[in-house]
Amino acid sequence: MESDKPPAAKGVSRPTPSVSLSSIFNRGWRLPGNQDRTSIVGKTGSGKTTAGLFILSKQDFKLPWVVIDYKDDEIINSVPLRELRDGSDPPTEPGLYKLHSSPFQNSRDDPVEIFLKKCWAKTHIGLFFDEAYMLPDRFGRTERGTLRALYTTGRSRRIPIIALTQRPVDVTKYNFSEASHHLIFRLPDKKDRDIVRGRVPNEKFDGIFGKHGTDLAEFHSMWYDVARDKTFTMLPFPDPAEVIDRLCEICKLNKWT
Ligand SMILES: Nc1ncnc2c1ncn2[C@@H]1O[C@H](COP(=O)(O)OP(=O)(O)O)[C@@H](O)[C@H]1O
Ligand SMILES: [Mg+2]
Repeated sequence: MESDKPPAAKGVSRPTPSVSLSSIFNRGWRLPGNQDRTSIVGKTGSGKTTAGLFILSKQDFKLPWVVIDYKDDEIINSVPLRELRDGSDPPTEPGLYKLHSSPFQNSRDDPVEIFLKKCWAKTHIGLFFDEAYMLPDRFGRTERGTLRALYTTGRSRRIPIIALTQRPVDVTKYNFSEASHHLIFRLPDKKDRDIVRGRVPNEKFDGIFGKHGTDLAEFHSMWYDVARDKTFTMLPFPDPAEVIDRLCEICKLNKWT
């Protein structure tokens, strides 16, 4: 069974990331839940998918969660997600699902867009976007407005979102303005950093990332809880194997596999 190894706040738990959850909870850290939108950014290989799946594994699963993964990610593929076909309605039963999605369908009748619109109408469904820059209408600017609606009304409609992206400049601004939690890994490009820096306390951001944005150690991240206005420097999350184990265990215990 997974040991509840938390992403620990620097200065609280040393020298290893393996400490009890309580030490970081005591400092006011909390996991996003069914009313939250979590933005996770960082360059390729910085640990976004691992962190996102860790957060997913900590959900209460009173809702179904659907993963939208355009890249056929190796880590995501190791989790026994129930595959939804093109044209499927959003699931109503709790569980972990994956929507089949192709990066080449970006038209008005894009199946992902149609699916997301149905999710908005249905309410009570969690969405996990791996690489949100590949979503239809990724800037949320067209009259279709599906993504914008999901981000801006997701809280009241109980549509929690965990959205990952390597290029903040390439996704809708609502991903950042509506996020209740920001998780920021190494981001080499200043334009990308500026987008997230504008959404978190600047001095804390600069303190963690350094003048040139390069100070953050591998797999470390900055966490900002918007409502509580609290910032944490996170040690690495549990590694992918452990996160996968935990998600497999959840699927097994709930008989979703
Ligand atoms: N918390 C972690 N501890 C140890 N290794 C990690 C951790 N997070 C990521 N890695 C390593 O980095 C690789 C890339 O991680 P991933 O989560 O896929 O990054 P991203 O989604 O940002 O590209 C993983 O396959 C794993 O080898
Ligand atoms: Mg990834």
